[in-house]
Amino acid sequence: MAKRVLIKFSGEALANEDGHGIDSATLKFIASEIKPLVESGVEIGLVVGGGNIIRGVNASKEGIIRRSSGDYMGMLATVINAVALQEALEHFGLKVRVQSAIEMNEICEPFIVRKAIRHLEKGRIVIFAAGTGNPFFTTDTAATLRAVEIGAQMIIKATKVDGVYDKDPAKYPDAKKIPILSYDEALKDNIKVMDDTAIALAKDNGLPIIVCDMFTKGNLYNIIVNEDYSRCSIVTDKEKL
Ligand code: GTP
Repeated sequence: MAKRVLIKFSGEALANEDGHGIDSATLKFIASEIKPLVESGVEIGLVVGGGNIIRGVNASKEGIIRRSSGDYMGMLATVINAVALQEALEHFGLKVRVQSAIEMNEICEPFIVRKAIRHLEKGRIVIFAAGTGNPFFTTDTAATLRAVEIGAQMIIKATKVDGVYDKDPAKYPDAKKIPILSYDEALKDNIKVMDDTAIALAKDNGLPIIVCDMFTKGNLYNIIVNEDYSRCSIVTDKEKL
């Protein structure tokens, strides 16, 4: 069983049915999926995207808002989601600390890696908010960076699809799932598990990336505690398997 993991949740997946805002039922579901992991002794870092509120790239595409400003707006969105997730996890009796890459001390702690590790050792979930604190980086890259920094054994991209496909399964019914990929395969244009920066960082540090469906009940437990990888895809150094 992995001792320490970083789970990255899609912000978009938190949205209500109209595609915006934060759905309480989804928050509750996530918390109920995390609780048994903590009870099994797994140390958990979380990163959540901000796509349900705003995406930097989209906000800036009309040319009015600069890309860097759009990205800062996106980072703020991740803080909103992190606070919501903290509330939901605490509602389930879990201990949580939010750390932000951009200081906003009235809302949450600043990101201090050594403090984050102490929190994890004490059985607290740490939610890393505000991305890397810099524009032009995605939350996937922030999640990978934090995973490496806290010494996580894997990063789990918990999203709307149950793995990596050779083409978009939403568009192509004949898309095939790829259970195991090398980092170089994950970098290919048709695959794009994460952005290149995130994958390169994972590759450099030998950090396995797991892609799974966040809405399948028991999925995270099955992967992390039971080490059952049948319902996800893994990006790793294939030679080492
Ligand atoms: P240890 O005592 O070191 O085990 O950790 P702790 O997090 O319980 O102690 P600390 O005194 O650092 O924090 C107590 C509470 O204050 C926790 O809920 C923290 O999340 C919160 N907290 C600590 N620093 C900050 C900060 O800079 N801003 C905000 N908003 N909350 C903080």
